[in-house]
Amino acid sequence: MAQRQITNVTLLGAGVLGGQIAWQSAFKGKNVVIYDLYEKGLEQCRQDQQRYADIYRSDLGATDDMIAATRGRLSFTTNLAGAAAGADLVIEAVPEIPEVKTAVYRELAGHLAEHTLVATNSSTLLPSQFAEATGRPGKYCALHFANYIWDQNIAEIMAHPGTEEPTLVAVTRFAIEIGMVPIPLRKEQNGYVLNSLLVPLLNATIGLLANGVSTPETIDRTYLLMNRGCRMGPCGIIDMIGMTTAYNVSSYWGNEKQDEQLLQGARYIKENFLDKGKLGAQTGEGFYTYPNPGFSAADFLDVPDLSRAEELARLALPG
Ligand SMILES: NC(=O)c1ccc[n+]([C@@H]2O[C@H](COP(=O)([O-])OP(=O)(O)OC[C@H]3O[C@@H](n4cnc5c(N)ncnc54)[C@H](O)[C@@H]3O)[C@@H](O)[C@H]2O)c1
Repeated sequence: MAQRQITNVTLLGAGVLGGQIAWQSAFKGKNVVIYDLYEKGLEQCRQDQQRYADIYRSDLGATDDMIAATRGRLSFTTNLAGAAAGADLVIEAVPEIPEVKTAVYRELAGHLAEHTLVATNSSTLLPSQFAEATGRPGKYCALHFANYIWDQNIAEIMAHPGTEEPTLVAVTRFAIEIGMVPIPLRKEQNGYVLNSLLVPLLNATIGLLANGVSTPETIDRTYLLMNRGCRMGPCGIIDMIGMTTAYNVSSYWGNEKQDEQLLQGARYIKENFLDKGKLGAQTGEGFYTYPNPGFSAADFLDVPDLSRAEELARLALPG
């Protein structure tokens, strides 16, 4: 059966990714409702979108009329029933905690129109884990976006065994309509293509830090010298992802795999960042402070002045 055009989109979760997907979709002409359990989540999202407006003006050449039209297509609510009504597609971007996602899907199921499609933006979990909870497994799949959606414009599309083909066609069309390059996966994979490559890098980074082997600047400098032209190194990437999601991923997979290194990494993030309110680039501080993080300094990759030799040698002293 042919799927209808996706015009009305609802985002569940107004955080780092939910806010970006919502903004990009509205910018490309979709009507978007952003739902969050908390008013403070919506408030943070409104602030973030001021930043996105500035970026779309400076980087994408968006005019004031385009920004005003984008804003006009966005609405915010803490009412799930209202958010679900009329949606052609609901994209779930709530925390990377299976119990939270399952509970949201179960509650959502009672409020959806028959034709509504549902997709998860989960970074590392599988749609088959939640298909039954949605109450509409055939109309459910993963549609995974990357941070900095306006620039890193991929949409990973991953079915579970019960996803129907028209669902995949409709979400692929939607991805293209909002300016994404579709990345189809032929089978379920925790982390898709992107995070299958990225998460091991970030886990290794957190391991180097939690074990006291190196510093964020040194790790990022190493990475950027080996990958000249990249915008940021792994600690910059973790700041961009946000400490909450970095913690949730390390904690969940640490427990799931009984992996002490991952659990140590989760504790490191909690003690050094979450407990201190340093949530990453979105809130102004993580490994670096924003808007001018150290790794963006013009001399970050330069051979240091000889006068710094002793200072640098001290960083190599054991203990
Ligand atoms: N941050 C990234 O770079 C990134 C990239 C791709 C995918 N993702 C995925 O997107 C999802 C969201 O991640 P994020 O980084 O945006 O998280 P986040 O912590 O920035 O935001 C989560 C939002 O969900 C809200 N929330 C919490 N419980 C809720 C509930 N029961 N119902 C509705 N809203 C609720 C919170 O108030 C918050 O606003 C996760 O599955 C994550 O793996 C994140």
